[in-house]
Amino acid sequence: MGGWAPYLLTNRKTHTSITFGSGTLIVSGQSLFCACRLLLTPDNLQEGSPVPNLVVVGCQWGDEGKGKIVDILAHHADVIVRFQGGSNAGHTVVTRKGTFVFHLIPSGILSRGKQCVLGNGVVIDPGALIEEMDRLRGQGVRIGRNLAISQRAHLIMPYHKAIEEASERARGMKRIGTTGKGIGPAYVDKMARIGIRIEDLLAPSIFRQKVEENLVEINLFLEQVYHMKGFRAEKVCREYLNYAPRIHAHVVDDSLLLHTAMQQGQAILFEGAQGTHLDVDLGTYPYVTSSNACAGGACTGTGVGPTKIDAVLGVTKAYTTRVGSGPFPSELTDAIGERLQERGNEFGSTTGRPRRCGWLDALVLRYAVRVNGCSSLAVTKLDVLDGMKELKIAVAYQHGDTIYTDMPAAHHVLTECEPIYEVLPGWKASTSKVTSYKALPREAKQYLTRIEELTECPVDLISTGSRREQILILRNPLAHTRSRLRVAQVSA
Ligand code: IMP
Repeated sequence: MGGWAPYLLTNRKTHTSITFGSGTLIVSGQSLFCACRLLLTPDNLQEGSPVPNLVVVGCQWGDEGKGKIVDILAHHADVIVRFQGGSNAGHTVVTRKGTFVFHLIPSGILSRGKQCVLGNGVVIDPGALIEEMDRLRGQGVRIGRNLAISQRAHLIMPYHKAIEEASERARGMKRIGTTGKGIGPAYVDKMARIGIRIEDLLAPSIFRQKVEENLVEINLFLEQVYHMKGFRAEKVCREYLNYAPRIHAHVVDDSLLLHTAMQQGQAILFEGAQGTHLDVDLGTYPYVTSSNACAGGACTGTGVGPTKIDAVLGVTKAYTTRVGSGPFPSELTDAIGERLQERGNEFGSTTGRPRRCGWLDALVLRYAVRVNGCSSLAVTKLDVLDGMKELKIAVAYQHGDTIYTDMPAAHHVLTECEPIYEVLPGWKASTSKVTSYKALPREAKQYLTRIEELTECPVDLISTGSRREQILILRNPLAHTRSRLRVAQVSA
């Protein structure tokens, strides 16, 4: 219980006041860092203070390191909820107890007393979910009622994976480079209103009927278009209905659960998967995933209204990566790209595919800050840039005679444009052991300040390595909440 209290109440230029229950601490800009470390210590949490709801989203093409940020923030939340995507996501959390790999289940499950939720916007492969539950249980993780699954979440069916595989093969050079988890076809069925939901799995006769009806058309499609063998409804039903008893106890109305949690004053952390530029509406279409990976998806994917969201934290790497096909203006196909890939260990955690690497792109970030309404940023993997002589940030794109300073939508422009770079000095010293912002190399601070200027968004968290403690906390990501500032102004 409790959540994120104390929190910053005012953030004026010269000082910041922080409430601790009944007391107030005034800190100058200099000591702000120390004070804010204090803010994020669970021991400081006070009961009865207002608690916020925070959305964490990726600002690039996924793999920004959201997993580690969510893992740290989850200690200060009561409920952690995934709102979109499926087992196409993947992250690893390293603790004293071992290495834990997550695809569907929020990593908050590692902390006792936290409620984890798979929201209605998630697509669930029940076989993959049960495998993940069993694997985590085998590592000593308790999974009971602390894992809730929305009754409205859609199922990934075996035919979704078959359709995806055949479709990617047929596209040849134009393939999306999907994770092969059946995500796209599952969302296609959802939108076509023929999707099968978790609630159907709990009603065998309804489930059977839906599978049989769907397979009439799907088998025809697979056989006639892709010359593949169709699926037998009986076999599919037998497999899936066997999963039902393993899932039954976890099924809830996610919207109601979250509403009740909010009424009880609990803090909710909305965990995004993939990233802004993979969002089906706002990403680099058609080379995107099939869900809303942006902050708006947190509302539709959980049944929580936008007025209940207090802040949005955007996560970005200190450089850029992308897995799969699609435009990537600042991509480096030279030795520098290879260096980033090697030093950053840039290999997909779900598919193991090498990630494409490139310079940081301010157009990509500025767009993400805008469409997500980011209140602040977390910059990850700063240490990967250690030892580089100079760094570049794309600040515009040139396409023919046109200069773009904001992210263009057209696929052909994004594919053909040439980035215009700003060059910044690199730093020699290692940042991975630095424990305060002050101790960062001057050039690293300059780089971070430039990110803030270009995005017009403050950087709150800086990650300098994969371990939990390799994080610099400049401010509480909730310090920028408008409602909080209003409260402060009214009471001033
Ligand atoms: P899908 O989500 O499997 O349909 O894949 C669509 C695109 O999103 C492909 O380019 C994938 O590589 C990419 N993608 C999906 N999930 C992730 C992720 O978690 N990180 C990075 N890229 C992803």
